[in-house]
Formats: sequence, structure tokens, C-alpha cells
Amino acid sequence: MKLRYLGHSGVQLTAGEHDVLIDPFLTGNPKAAASAADLEPTHIVVTHAHGDHWGDTPDIARRSGATVVSCAEIAAHAARLGLTAHGMNTGGRHEFPFGSVRLTVAFHSSSFDDGRYGGMPNGVVIEIGGVRVYHAGDTALFSDMRLIGRLGLDVALLPIGDNYTMGPDDAIEAVKLLEPGLVIPIHYDTMPLLAQDAALFKSRVEAETSARCAPLAPGDSIDLP
Ligand code: NI
Ligand code: MN
Repeated sequence: MKLRYLGHSGVQLTAGEHDVLIDPFLTGNPKAAASAADLEPTHIVVTHAHGDHWGDTPDIARRSGATVVSCAEIAAHAARLGLTAHGMNTGGRHEFPFGSVRLTVAFHSSSFDDGRYGGMPNGVVIEIGGVRVYHAGDTALFSDMRLIGRLGLDVALLPIGDNYTMGPDDAIEAVKLLEPGLVIPIHYDTMPLLAQDAALFKSRVEAETSARCAPLAPGDSIDLP
């Protein structure tokens, strides 16, 4: 399985013929590592409706025919746009051709740019290519991350940008609860407000927890396991 970081919270997971995008915010993202027109996913997983996560989902899904996987409210919105969608809700898990998706709790908010309600925000645990990946979406630190960690996480993608989400201190606490093998920081440096020192975060993760940490520049990819 190859994990490619697209910038901000955007990630591409590929395994064989399966190509899964998470939170493809590319157009208008100054750190985007790909353009929407270059992506041909089979599925697009959306953690919540904010524009920096829903992003290019309509354009990519319309062109590629990818199935939009998200909470019921976002899936319903996608269906109204004529897209193929699969709605779920927090706590639910479903099998897809590439593996599985479980929607987890996230403490945040979720509305589309026009104010339309986006349902509850989520994190996701995705199993693909023999790897279990947790993408936290946008969230605060919460102690039930311990329960998510009990699933046995190979990779945790955690926001560290602060202001809208956890910052580095709380992300370190999250790593202690989640106990993943590998931490990849997301949702930082996209704009000056979200500036963080990823190298410092890596050194702290590896000094204060048992996880490894691999900050990825937008466009970088990593082969897993
Ligand atoms: Ni958000
Ligand atoms: Mn966000």
C-alpha cells in the first residue's frame, strides 16, 4: 500500500487497482501536491463538510465516477449533486472492494461553505492493503482515542496545526492514547495561521512516545507496511 500526502489533510491510499482519496482539498490550497484533474480514485472518503476537506470532491467524483464515502448528510448532499455516494454514521463500519471504513468520533463542527448542515464530523479508520490507517479529520484531543487505539493502528494521521484542531502538545497526548506504529502530521503549514515545526514534532513524538513519526512534504509518499 502506498500512502501519498497531497497537502493539508489530503491523502491518497493506493493498493493494486484500489485508489482511495481522503479529504481532497486541492483547488485553492497553496500547498496542494496534485491537481484535481490528475486524480482518478475509486473512492473518496470525506471526514466533514468544511471546504478544506470536502474540497474538490464533486469535480473528482463526477469525472472519475468514484464513490463518495462519508456521513449520511454529506453522502445525501453528494447524491443530490448526482454523485455516487455511500452514507454511514459514527461508529459504523462497512466493507468496500478495497477494504473497510469505520467512522469514528471527532470533536469539531461540520457545515458546507453555504451554511448547509454537514452532519457530525468524523475521523476514519481505513483498512487497505493489510494496513490499518486512522485519519483523525479535524478534531480536539479526546480520551476515547484510547478506544480507537485498541483497534491496533499501523498509522495515525493527526492534525497538529492548532487554532482549528489539536496543536502539537495535544497531538502528543493523542499519540499516547492511540499507540500507532507511525504518526504522520497533517493540517499544518497550509497557511501562516497553521504554521508548525514538523521536525520538532517528530523529535517529540519519538522521545515521548513509542511511535515513529514521518512528516511528509506535500507530494511525498511512503510504502506501508
Ligand atoms: Ni474543519
Ligand atoms: Mn480543516
